[in-house]
Amino acid sequence: MAELRRLIAGNWKMNGLMADGLARAKALRTRALRTKRPLPDIALCPPATLLAAVGKVLAGSPIALGAQDCHQAEKGAHTGDIAAPMLAELGCRHVIVGHSERRANHGESDAQVRAKAEAALRCGLIPIVCVGESAEQRRAGQHLSVIGGQVERSLPSAATPETVVVAYEPVWAIGTGLTPTPQDIEEAHKHLRTTLDAPIRLLYGGSANAANAKTLLATPGVDGLLVGGASLDADAFWKMVLAA
Ligand code: PGA
Repeated sequence: MAELRRLIAGNWKMNGLMADGLARAKALRTRALRTKRPLPDIALCPPATLLAAVGKVLAGSPIALGAQDCHQAEKGAHTGDIAAPMLAELGCRHVIVGHSERRANHGESDAQVRAKAEAALRCGLIPIVCVGESAEQRRAGQHLSVIGGQVERSLPSAATPETVVVAYEPVWAIGTGLTPTPQDIEEAHKHLRTTLDAPIRLLYGGSANAANAKTLLATPGVDGLLVGGASLDADAFWKMVLAA
């Protein structure tokens, strides 16, 4: 299979006010424009309140803008939600859908996640569809069937390598400092790869940081990283970009 272009995506989650976010985006823009090294694809997913301002900072740089969620409807009576065309209008290129925090805190189902991913595709956004097992499911040896099922039910049917990204994020690894072994990640990615019928990029996410990025990225089947906590530190995030 041809090598897929790597993607390092930073998910800032619900962190940072304007000054903070702009400083981080400017620091990364400067590094991206100065480096002579070949870069992977890079995306920053700030909170919705910072999208427009961060997008202005990133314009003309190799760093893409991404959002953390979208609604499945194009418009309508959905107080507090954001529609995919609104994100596209702001210059977003990516949107995370089905993050385990949304699945847990907002009760999002696989069917809803698929509808969101399809809404993203309709306006040219690349959905980053997240899947991952809980600690109990792993203990019970159900992790492969859980993530395989999530991918089958959450992915749009028209997924292609250019239009959709999948992130494997074990719930127990997110924000805990715990990561699966490289063998466990390889096993999960291999399983996802056989479940998907197109060579979609498969990111790993969950306590990825500057210290473990090289190992994670050297794991067979890993096409990039979805980074939470460590993406709030421009230096750490940039090290991870260079590791790719
Ligand atoms: P973390 O989060 O890197 O802080 O574990 C990853 C994610 O939730 O995308």
